[in-house]
Amino acid sequence: MTVSQPPSTDQALGVIPAPVPLAALVDRAQAGFEDRFGRPPRWIAAAPGRVNVIGEHTDYNDGFVLPMAIERYVVIAADRPQPTSRPMPICMSSSAFETAEWLSPDDASSERLPPWARYVLGVLVGCRSQGMQAGPLDMLIDSNVPLGGGLSSSAALEVATATLIEAVTGRSLPPVEKALLCQQAEHRFAGVPCGIMDQFSSVFGRRDHLMLLDCRSTEITSVPLTDPQVHVLIINTNVKHELTGGEYAERRGQCELAAKRLGVASLRDATWDLLADHSAALEPVLARRARHVIGEIERTVQAAEAIAAGDWKQMGQLMAASHDSLRDDYEVSCRELDLLVELAGQQAPGAVIGSRMTGGGFGGCTVSLVSSEHLETVAHAIHEGYRNQTGIVPSLFTTRPAAGAHVVVG
Ligand code: GLA
Repeated sequence: MTVSQPPSTDQALGVIPAPVPLAALVDRAQAGFEDRFGRPPRWIAAAPGRVNVIGEHTDYNDGFVLPMAIERYVVIAADRPQPTSRPMPICMSSSAFETAEWLSPDDASSERLPPWARYVLGVLVGCRSQGMQAGPLDMLIDSNVPLGGGLSSSAALEVATATLIEAVTGRSLPPVEKALLCQQAEHRFAGVPCGIMDQFSSVFGRRDHLMLLDCRSTEITSVPLTDPQVHVLIINTNVKHELTGGEYAERRGQCELAAKRLGVASLRDATWDLLADHSAALEPVLARRARHVIGEIERTVQAAEAIAAGDWKQMGQLMAASHDSLRDDYEVSCRELDLLVELAGQQAPGAVIGSRMTGGGFGGCTVSLVSSEHLETVAHAIHEGYRNQTGIVPSLFTTRPAAGAHVVVG
């Protein structure tokens, strides 16, 4: 890769829009609160979404993941309500959905609520069980994390809610407990048996660092990503294939079954030799799932080493192998994700370091590491290629690794 002046990503770059700084989103949430409730908010909390660079579907197998928080946030502005009679203590207004919901942590039945409000209720109930009663609140939720794009908009909402409650109650949860409480909210109130990656990324995100998370011990190793020659480019397919909706839980169940058949506590403990020993007896689909997880855990650890060593060639190969494995063995990719990765692979030598689908799959986004000097050309070529072949306009943005959730005002 030749060294040249990297383009500034502070300005719009062709098909890549100029980033919205957190401060602007905070101003927007503040103005939204004033519009809705007629006075300024007293507390404001922000929590980022995340992109996973590598280590997909490994978190619920006790493996390693290598995500980073992104410069896209859920921001919640809040205040005590004016003394008026209210049907329920909490009034939440969502800018994204242009709706308001009333809820009470005492009414733990979430069925009547739209999905986004269930995440908030789940966290309110979890915090209350820790003795953190938020009390009556008016809340305005704003966000620029793409919804349903595999960038953890739901985890950002959960973690922003928990951070807001910390500000309101003046009590802080230990960060690991906070992330686990948010994960539980998702399990119990949204019915998604997710791993811990998304909530940990939003809580522990660190500026200019990826996070190598051991999902068994919850130990975090920070991996600096500061090379000015390397940009993280996120491309949203703008499709979400719903299928039957149970694919995530199904994959998780298959992994648990595979581990059981191999006689290990989780696939983290499985090895290539063990898999080979059982190859005759193991159902082919379980063997494929196990092959993905064993390989992906190895790749994730190697990727952290490659980035630390600045070995971008190796990093690119690991990302390519990750995508192939998710497509062929784990079967969670789709035509649109594959096309974005193929288009990335067709760019000039050295322009794209690596590219792969990111998140749960079946739509959503790809993550690519792109050489700065080629960023604009690459973005334009992939945008056009994807649009021509699918008729769908993709959304692109770049991001640096961002800091985790924090109280902005309070
Ligand atoms: C979703 C889940 C995560 C993780 C990824 C796949 O984002 O919420 O816990 O399992 O899928 O890596």
